[in-house]
Amino acid sequence: MNIAIDGPAGAGKSTVAQKVAGQLEYVYIDTGSMYRALAWAVHHNQLAIEDEPSVSELLQNNEIRLVREHGQQTVFWNDKDVTGLIRSTEVSQYASIVASYGSVREQMLVLQRNLAKQGNVVMDGRDIGTHVLPDAEVKIFLTASSRERAERRWKELLTKGIQTDLDELEKEIEERDLRDMSREVAPLRQADDAVLVDTTGITIDEVVDRILQICERTGEST
Ligand code: DC
Repeated sequence: MNIAIDGPAGAGKSTVAQKVAGQLEYVYIDTGSMYRALAWAVHHNQLAIEDEPSVSELLQNNEIRLVREHGQQTVFWNDKDVTGLIRSTEVSQYASIVASYGSVREQMLVLQRNLAKQGNVVMDGRDIGTHVLPDAEVKIFLTASSRERAERRWKELLTKGIQTDLDELEKEIEERDLRDMSREVAPLRQADDAVLVDTTGITIDEVVDRILQICERTGEST
């Protein structure tokens, strides 16, 4: 069984997806980290972010690897561990721009489907239920208010020693949502057969339980 978890930035997808994967002993795949790794490389190589052909070529000529060790995901751009470098607000904005490029998404689709080929994966992103794994047995669309999502991101960044302004962060999240939802290629939207889970005001564990129940029901009916 494959599980697709989509939703806007900061809805808690990665935390929830990791916990669900842990409970079911499935493999967790964070597709956002792949766009982030490319965004980091664009910045690192001082490419113009608006130059789609060069960005796409950069992806084609390099390798992104997600390595799971001791329950933690490490992201490699070729041999460089970029895990700690891809969560800055600058890389976040860049990631949402590279993710709007059709030629980038086409390549990511192939890479991500390959990663899911083994089955029993929990994959999170924006277009997993709609494009990457349209046949996933369980599809969840996770959301929360933009204020709550900004607060969560603010706390997450603080634990990494990154100080940010909450209002500024909310504005950035809304900008990113708008870009992710209005892009022409594979925009963020709830798949017709996805279950909507609003996480505003409920704990991570409650969300995880809810999803596990959905998985159990699906497992019983297939
Ligand atoms: O989930 P995240 O914040 O790490 O994602 C980073 C960016 O990548 C975000 O702006 C949306 C984009 N993304 C996407 O377009 N499709 C995916 N499957 C995953 C992420």
